[in-house]
Amino acid sequence: MVHREWKKGKYSISTNPRRMDLDAVHGFLSRSFWAEGIARRVVAKSIRNSLCFGLFHGRAQVGFARVVTDRATYAYLCDVYVLEAYRGKGLGKWLIAKVMAHPELQGLRRFQLVTRDAHGLYRPFGFGPPKHRDRQMEIFRHGMYVT
Ligand SMILES: CC(C)(COP(=O)(O)OP(=O)(O)OC[C@H]1O[C@@H](n2cnc3c(N)ncnc32)[C@H](O)[C@@H]1OP(=O)(O)O)[C@@H](O)C(=O)NCCC(=O)NCCS
Repeated sequence: MVHREWKKGKYSISTNPRRMDLDAVHGFLSRSFWAEGIARRVVAKSIRNSLCFGLFHGRAQVGFARVVTDRATYAYLCDVYVLEAYRGKGLGKWLIAKVMAHPELQGLRRFQLVTRDAHGLYRPFGFGPPKHRDRQMEIFRHGMYVT
């Protein structure tokens, strides 16, 4: 697997799994509204089995996006964040732009995501409401990591 890296001043984005800072990513996700309480080993396994994009300020990880995909037909974008101190500078848009331009994520039949209030972040990249809402089904275990 070819690992990719992009630079913009002191910031960089990398898909190298070895660069992902598990403490930083778990630290954010375990306090997030969507994965509150998630175990470190579950985050580690999800990173191992996904195409991940780390956002770095120097060597410090300040953002993350994870894509669950077969790299041929389907992808699911999740666990997107930029640390609060770094928000509002265009870094989230840069991160999503690199996800969407990744060579292994081209020509997919379906690219999905779930968002509570960040629709405006994803809309410019082509995301919209499901075409046939009534055809989609899911098993959703809300709050399953909270003990
Ligand atoms: C969402 C998030 C990743 C955006 O990162 P960011 O670096 O602040 O984003 P940017 O500076 O690149 O700008 C985001 C753009 O999306 C828009 N946007 C729409 N909904 C948004 C939302 N809920 N939060 C942030 N931006 C939003 C902004 O207005 C901005 O567009 P503009 O520049 O045209 O005004 C960041 O706010 C974050 O980590 N939030 C907490 C975690 C979260 O909610 N993640 C999304 C899960 S789906």
